[in-house]
Formats: sequence, C-alpha cells, structure tokens
Amino acid sequence: MAPIVIAKSGGDPDLPAKLTTQVIVCSVIAAFGGLMFGYDIGISGGVTSMDDFLIKFFPTVYVKKHQVKENNYCKYNNQYLQLFTSSLYLAAIVASYFASMACKKFGRKPTIQAASIFFVAGAILNTAAKDLGMLIAGRLCLGAGVGFGNQAVPLFISEIAPAKYRGGLNICFQFLITVGILCANLINYGTSRLHPNGWRVSLGGAAVPALFLLIGSIIIVETPTSLIERGKKDKGLETLKKIRGVDNVDKEFEELLHATELAKQAKHSYRNLMKRSSRPQLICGTILQVFQQFTGINVIMFYAPVLFQTMGFGGDASLLSAVVTGLVNVLSTLVAIFTVDKIGRKKLLVQAAIQMLIAQTIVGAVLAVHLKSTNAMPSNYAIFVVILICLFVSGFAWSWGPLGWLIPSEIFPLETRNAGFFFAVSMNMVCTFLVAQAFLSMLCSMRSGIFFFFVVWIIIMGTFAIFLLPETKGIPIDEMNERVWKKHWFWKRYFDDDDGKGDVEIQAKPEEN
Ligand code: BGC
Repeated sequence: MAPIVIAKSGGDPDLPAKLTTQVIVCSVIAAFGGLMFGYDIGISGGVTSMDDFLIKFFPTVYVKKHQVKENNYCKYNNQYLQLFTSSLYLAAIVASYFASMACKKFGRKPTIQAASIFFVAGAILNTAAKDLGMLIAGRLCLGAGVGFGNQAVPLFISEIAPAKYRGGLNICFQFLITVGILCANLINYGTSRLHPNGWRVSLGGAAVPALFLLIGSIIIVETPTSLIERGKKDKGLETLKKIRGVDNVDKEFEELLHATELAKQAKHSYRNLMKRSSRPQLICGTILQVFQQFTGINVIMFYAPVLFQTMGFGGDASLLSAVVTGLVNVLSTLVAIFTVDKIGRKKLLVQAAIQMLIAQTIVGAVLAVHLKSTNAMPSNYAIFVVILICLFVSGFAWSWGPLGWLIPSEIFPLETRNAGFFFAVSMNMVCTFLVAQAFLSMLCSMRSGIFFFFVVWIIIMGTFAIFLLPETKGIPIDEMNERVWKKHWFWKRYFDDDDGKGDVEIQAKPEEN
C-alpha cells in the first residue's frame, strides 16, 4: 500500500509562509473569544460582593454579610450565589459538545459567530435582569458562548497560523483571557460606586467585546482545513494562498488534502480515542485540565474580592486587591509567551508548582493563625496574604494556565485531535464548575484548611509533571507518537502490543533530509 502522507497540521516549518496581516487580524479577532471568557470569569466575584446586587437577588446573603457575629468563613455560603457563578460552566460543558459538531459540520467561522450571538444575548439578559431566573438565564447564554468559543477559537487559530508561530499565537488566546479578567476587575472597581445599578453596568460590559467579536467574525476567513473538509477545495486553496501570502502553497495544500482524507477514513474518532494507544495522550490531555483547575486558581479569579473581604478588607480595598492580582496575571502570561519554546513545558510546570506550593502553604498557615471565625485579620497580615496570592497567580500564569490549553492541543495525533481536544475542554469546564460551586461551602466548612486541600493537589501535579509528562517543546505535532510517546519510559508500554485494529493505517512520510 502506498504510504499515506501525514499533514503537518498548519504546515511544516519549511513550507513557504509569511506571517500575514490577514493571519494576525483573524487571530486577534478570534482571540476576543478568550477575552469574553476572561471577562465572564472576572466579573462575577466583584458583582457578588456588591451590596446592591446582593439586596436585589440574594437578600439573605446580604443580611448574613452584615451580621457582625457571622462566621468569617461562612458569610457568603449560599448555594444560589454559587449557582450564579457556576451555572455558566454547566452550560459550557453541554455547549462544547454541540460546538465540536458545529465546527465539523458548519465550519469554525459560523461556530465563532454563534458564540458571539450567545455572548450578546447573555449580556443583555444579565443587564436587564429583573429576577434570579433572568440572571441565571443570562449566565447560561454566556456559558453557551464560552462552550462554542473555547472549542472553536483555539482550533481556528491553530489552523490558520503558520507552524512556527502556532505556539505564540495559541498563548495569545490565554493572554486575552487574562486581559478579560483584568478588564472585569477594573470595571467592577469603578461600578461598585455607582448605586444602585453599578452591577448592571458590570454585567452589561460583556456586550462590548461580544459585539466586537460578532462584527469581527463576519470579516474573518474560514480555515482552509474546514473548507476542504466540507468539500470546498477550490475555496480552500484560494484562502490558503491569501493567508500564507505566497502563491506556492501546493505542498501544504497537498498535505491538507491527505489530512482530510485520513480524517474521513478514521470516521470513528471517538472510538479511536478509546484505543489503548490513545490512552497516554488522552490521560495527559485531560488530567492537565483537571490539574489546572485544582491549583485553586479560580478561587482567586472568581472569589478574590469575596476572599479579601473575608480577611477584613473593606469593599474598595477588596476590589483593588483583585485588580492587582489581575494585573499580575496579565504580565506573567507574557513570560510564558516568550519562554515556552525556549525553556520548555516541563521546567515551567515544575518550577511553578513549587512556587504555588510555597505560596498556598503560607496563605493557609497565616489564615489558620490570624483569621478566626469572627475577628478581622490584622491589616499587615492581610497585605502579606495579597502578596502571596500574587506569587501564586504569577506561577500559574506562566505555566499551568497557558500550558493547560497548549499541551492538549499539540499531543494528539491528527485522527484523534478533535475528539481529544473536546475531552480536554469539557474536563476544564467540569472542574471549573466543581470548584466554583463548591468553594464557598468548602471555605465555610474547611476554613483555612481549604488552602491545604489545594496544596495536596499541587504536590500531585508537580510529581506528575516530573515523572509522567513528556517534554513536547520543538517536536512537530505529527511526530509526537514516534518521538515522544513511544520513547517515554512509562507511556511506551501502551504501544507495545498495539495491533492497530480499528486504526487507519498511517505511515510516516519519509524524512526528506
Ligand atoms: C483557565 C481559567 C482561569 C484563567 C486564569 C485559564 O487558563 O482555564 O479557568 O480562570 O486561566 O487566567
């Protein structure tokens, strides 16, 4: 049988391609999906600590919050309040499944457009909310937007980016997530002074990037892969020439045709994913997302203002502290963009695990000693805790944050990549939901012990990164199996007795040099 050529997913490094304005503009527009995601993450913490908002939707929480005798750790413990934050992720889990099908059937561009429509609808419902039902309905729409956006945008960017810029452009998605979180924190800081409707401005603010994404998504191109996949070969070739900025795209076009052919043969990508030889990538891809969430990052992102109020900061100081952590998050993500392809993934993950471990342990210890049930924490200790939280956030931002998205997108072979990435995205949403839903109750029952809960997770993930996660820096995506997994001391056993049943027969393209 003639060897089947494996496509280099976006082109191998020596394929002729320029970093065209078209690619940059399209990537930035699409990455606004990340900004929307970040805005939604960042906005809820500040809003749920605003009195006007609590009086309108959660009066019992408002009363508890202002009862001097109320236990510090339990002030905000309310299932409905948590549902406000976490309902978004519930919707996103369901939506990302439909989004993966929409991506395939209709293309990446309409999926991104659908995401922006959900975002606009969610922002309108939330701004106009008259009761809890309308508020939650708005969050569910935003969640659908997140599900559609997070599935389509990374895929879209990877497919239009030339191979050698793919890593950097990919982390731009995470960068805009952090910008979205920071914008949300800044807006909350301003709107907390606008009584009684400041919270409406905060929630309605989501409409601005959503409209930008909606208008922008009209002008972006469809990816050549998606066009070819849906039988539009000529349009695919034309788009490829346009985004690469060169006429000689024959080789990449050939590879895309073969890739599509392969994908067609490997019809049952979910069944392929369940095979023994797919287990290493499936385990590593999904577990990285579990670990990303169990660093405890979203406790800070969602509940920083609430957390800081628990420690005795006033409303303003709490929001300001959340702004500081947001800024640290943005700046530290830049570190990842510039180091990930030089230092490598593993070193960043391990270094950051140690940094996060130290920070969380000290935060837990300081709270255990200085934050009792009903006193306010001495302010110098509270400031010390904010500094430690910044240390924790910076470690996350240059490692488990961006790499939680990057690594799952680069470790799957072509025939299981879509299905594998879907598992990773939905696992992220499931764990985000769990953390968002459980945190305030856990804070109430475990008190400062909650930080030690995350410390245990960080030890596990650090150990995993040292011993079980292979280094993928600089390895072409389609050579991962041969050069990474089959050589890894542990994972190679999954390939030993692989008889290839149910596989599409794939042979590596002979090296040209
Ligand atoms: C995570 C989010 C998190 C954000 C913080 C993302 O990679 O998926 O859950 O809130 O990083 O910057």
